[in-house]
Amino acid sequence: MEKEKYQRFSVSLPEDLRKEFDSVCEKIGMSRSDAIRKAMRDYIGEYRLAHEDKSLSSGSITIILNHDERSGLMDDITDLEHDYHEIIQSTLHVHLDHDNCLIVHAVKGPISEIEKLFQEFLKRPEIKLVKKNMMITE
Ligand code: NI
Repeated sequence: MEKEKYQRFSVSLPEDLRKEFDSVCEKIGMSRSDAIRKAMRDYIGEYRLAHEDKSLSSGSITIILNHDERSGLMDDITDLEHDYHEIIQSTLHVHLDHDNCLIVHAVKGPISEIEKLFQEFLKRPEIKLVKKNMMITE
């Protein structure tokens, strides 16, 4: 792998912000440069998640639902998982208690496709909770 080129740059910021930042870096044991690199990647990733539909992203969509067979919801979810098999890489099903299931979908693909799947889960009122956690990894 080719070694990345590094550049130095200086920034102006309020003294309080710098002190607080350094204090957090010290608490987590990370150098200021490592922390800033990480923060910049997060910041760029958040921008791209919001603005670049065709960018590739990966992460998870987690849902909580009542598995009651009479509602047909589980069949509906399975159909949806098959429709989106190209972006759903893996599924984890946890039986939380007698009635409730937690299903985690690990996803990878264009942001726009992942968003479509997220909306499909959101629009089903029988699903109690829907959470999305996405990252830009490319
Ligand atoms: Ni279950």
